Amino acid sequence: MLNIVIFGPPGSGKGTQSKNIIKKYNLIHLSTGDILRNAIAKKTPLGILAKRYMDKGELVPDKDVIQMVINNLDENNDQNGFIFDGFPRTQNQAEFLKNLLKERNTKINVMVTLEVNHDELVKRLINRSKETDRSDDKKVSIIENRINIYNKQTAPIIEFYKKENKYQPVDGTGTVDEIVERICKIINKYK
Ligand code: C5P
Ligand code: MG
Repeated sequence: MLNIVIFGPPGSGKGTQSKNIIKKYNLIHLSTGDILRNAIAKKTPLGILAKRYMDKGELVPDKDVIQMVINNLDENNDQNGFIFDGFPRTQNQAEFLKNLLKERNTKINVMVTLEVNHDELVKRLINRSKETDRSDDKKVSIIENRINIYNKQTAPIIEFYKKENKYQPVDGTGTVDEIVERICKIINKYK
């Protein structure tokens, strides 16, 4: 199996890059943000709970997100591998993911971190708000809150993956094709 964590702040291009990478390596795109938005649209109990946090740009509690990931892994067993997009977002989630994969006799091969500066992130998210109806892209204050939460709660996970020799930073600016090529070079070393 090939399991990749695609990491980086909101607006760094995780979703866009994941869509390209799953085609090249025949992986499942496990985007926790997409699954949560789907749950909100369907008004499931998880969606109703998650909406309260997501509308403010805050994180949904670990236990709910982790259960959702377990369900998704179980629905997709016998696959080539996964690209985890938007998960893990906390130290707890990172440790949990490690154990979940261990129980399934597999592991994360590499964590690819897309690096994009703050002003470019805000610019991209404001642009995205014009194309999608994501409520959390609509207000600059919510965008700034998400970037803040990323810096405080999510970015520290980089240390977790550094210790495992799985951390790989990538310049997340340039054309989509250029960035895909940078990512593929890394994946090919770890697969
Ligand atoms: O990953 P994405 O940017 O699509 O996530 C959108 C929102 O979903 C986050 O701002 C957060 O509110 C919520 N989320 C979360 N925990 C995750 C993934 C997403 O709370 N692991
Ligand atoms: Mg995304």
